[in-house]
Amino acid sequence: MSPERAREIAASFDLRALPADFYANPYPVYAALREQEPVRRMPDGSWFLTRHADLVAVYRDAHCFSSDKKVEFTPKYGPGAPLLEHHTTSLVFNDPPLHTRVRKLIMGALTRRAIAEMEPGLVALVDRLLDAMADKGGGDLIEDFASAIPVEIIGNLLGVPHGDRGPLRGWSLAILGALEPRLTPQQEELGNRSVREFVDYLRILVADRRRHPGDPEHDVLTRLIQGEAAGEQLSETELLQNCIFILNAGHETTTNLIGNALCALAEWPQEKAKLLAATGDEAAMTLAVDEFLRFESSNQLGNRRALHACEVGGVALPEGALVTLCIGAANRDPAQFARPDVLDLGRQDNRHLAFGFGIHQCAGLSLARLEGRIAIGRFLSRFPNYALTEAPTRGGRARFRGFLQAPFSC
Ligand code: HEM
Repeated sequence: MSPERAREIAASFDLRALPADFYANPYPVYAALREQEPVRRMPDGSWFLTRHADLVAVYRDAHCFSSDKKVEFTPKYGPGAPLLEHHTTSLVFNDPPLHTRVRKLIMGALTRRAIAEMEPGLVALVDRLLDAMADKGGGDLIEDFASAIPVEIIGNLLGVPHGDRGPLRGWSLAILGALEPRLTPQQEELGNRSVREFVDYLRILVADRRRHPGDPEHDVLTRLIQGEAAGEQLSETELLQNCIFILNAGHETTTNLIGNALCALAEWPQEKAKLLAATGDEAAMTLAVDEFLRFESSNQLGNRRALHACEVGGVALPEGALVTLCIGAANRDPAQFARPDVLDLGRQDNRHLAFGFGIHQCAGLSLARLEGRIAIGRFLSRFPNYALTEAPTRGGRARFRGFLQAPFSC
């Protein structure tokens, strides 16, 4: 995209009416916004933030900037809609105390030890997928690899039987897809239907787990159920909707991390060669995963609502101001990152915001980093000469950045 075109889109920037050429490469538009109007008032009256320092300030101030979405989502989905109940009950879209209760229960099952214990199973899963692609001489980076990993890992975390995992990805895409700024009636109906089906399924799973509890050190579902018994008082609705959220949260985001990384390497041969020499080096691989997360953040947008009048980046915001935090823009801010548009897999002191920041910072970040390190490292070692055989197909969404298909040969 030319700088003139980027400035033109930025000058009339409206998240609800993005032009088609925005999605392939939104970064020049974000750069123009950061320069022209870093705290931009959008036509619907909300605010769009693109500077790293401004995002950090908002994330830090959870007393002023609420994550509770009832005000925004009630008119969006309509009272009584399954999507409304789901999104307004999940911890990510709540403030303390519900947020704190659920987060504590989840974090208790995502300890360093529990995550380290997942590594052998993850390696075996990745190797099975690599074997299958080697037999075919290639395949699709997303369908055959990136999307097949998180569904199994998160399925294990909640103890979803293997045979039941088929619909999880479709439900997840439909429910998270309903967070896009504009929805067609078909998308809304699919999102609502997916919540209903997911809840019906989980009711059976939860009833079964109550009868046959798992190990609460590893099984998040058992922990959430026992939390109720131990006086944490999650209602049945809170329990079911937060299970849906965990299954969704770790799914598309991690798929996009792996898919975006392998597509980016195809465009940055020198970085690919450097990484290939370092696949056995855990520290180097971890640095690389963080740079992939910065460079093409899976989750590009976050939202908050100001509970009282305040100031961000020198701009006065009124009480009730709706704020969109553009993670994709903040992660390319030259005030924070040297040469921000360069993929530098050895980048040090990488304070990216791909996992957010503050009290809602991603609860699954260590798990996501592990998945990224193992999947990308083992893929690269196994297929050092892989090549994309066609241009990958983008998901075409502003919030979640990733590909739907990326055919390759190895
Ligand atoms: C590359 C992968 C991932 C990315 C980029 C990502 C990104 C994020 C971001 C940006 C937030 C903060 C939202 C906000 O502040 O409004 C978040 C929250 C969360 N993520 Fe992740 N995530 C990833 C993987 C995972 C995984 C694997 C899990 C599995 C357990 C997970 C579970 C959660 C949970 C439970 C929250 C809510 C935390 C809270 O509200 O306190 N995420 N994630």
